[in-house]
Amino acid sequence: MRIVILGAPGAGKGTQCKRVVAEYGLAHLSSGDILRRERSEGTELGKEAQSYMDSGALVPDEIIVKMMASAISESVESGFVLDGFPRTVNQAQELDNSLQSSGQKIDAIINLNVDDELVSQRMTGRRSCPECGAVYHIENLKPKVEGKCDNDDADLVQRADDALDVVANRLKTYHEQTKPVVGYYKSNGTVIEIDANKDADEVTGFVLDKLEELASALK
Ligand code: AP5
Ligand code: MG
Repeated sequence: MRIVILGAPGAGKGTQCKRVVAEYGLAHLSSGDILRRERSEGTELGKEAQSYMDSGALVPDEIIVKMMASAISESVESGFVLDGFPRTVNQAQELDNSLQSSGQKIDAIINLNVDDELVSQRMTGRRSCPECGAVYHIENLKPKVEGKCDNDDADLVQRADDALDVVANRLKTYHEQTKPVVGYYKSNGTVIEIDANKDADEVTGFVLDKLEELASALK
């Protein structure tokens, strides 16, 4: 399966993608995670992306499209879930064109709908593991030991772009540039709408039910 997960910052894209890949053995291709890795390794790409990410703006399309084309080419046969890409209509068109040229397409678009009011609570409470990438929340999804990762006991960290002023910009960017991507996919096919205001396990239940239907239809 080749899947795209759409949603605002804090909708739960990363959280749900990790559960979907665990269930279906797909590659989890998160543009945000790839950019953060490039930054921590100090690459040219990471340096170019830094100021955009820190202000809550989007990194320019040409940089992202090239970066994601390379990640997708490595897992196009085994299947993947795209998390955080495409994020503009232009990126979505570029993705469609490049898949079409190799005779492939996206099988499902999942749109996680979350109310703006919930976003800042989710962002400011998020803690991540710098070693394995596991994501927690200080109230909603607590680690077993406060401040420590369940998997490797590493100290959990906060993302720099989870500061309240940056979150407000990220949300504005989402409404202006990413929400139109949902319209783009609706005009070309089906979008699976999910209520992501519910707790994380309930959302996973909705998503896995829909994917099970899809997997049987694709057989
Ligand atoms: P990216 O890393 O993609 O950030 P984002 O889209 O803003 O989304 P988040 O990762 O913050 O949220 P999420 O939906 O994954 O939520 P999560 O599961 O962690 O992008 C970062 C930056 O990189 C962008 O601002 C941009 O600059 C750049 N970039 C990336 N892709 C780009 C592209 N394609 N084009 C241009 N620029 C790009 O959950 C959040 C918290 O809530 C966690 O603490 C979690 O435990 C909790 N939680 C999750 N689900 C629930 C639930 N159902 N109930 C309660 N709590 C929940
Ligand atoms: Mg994420």
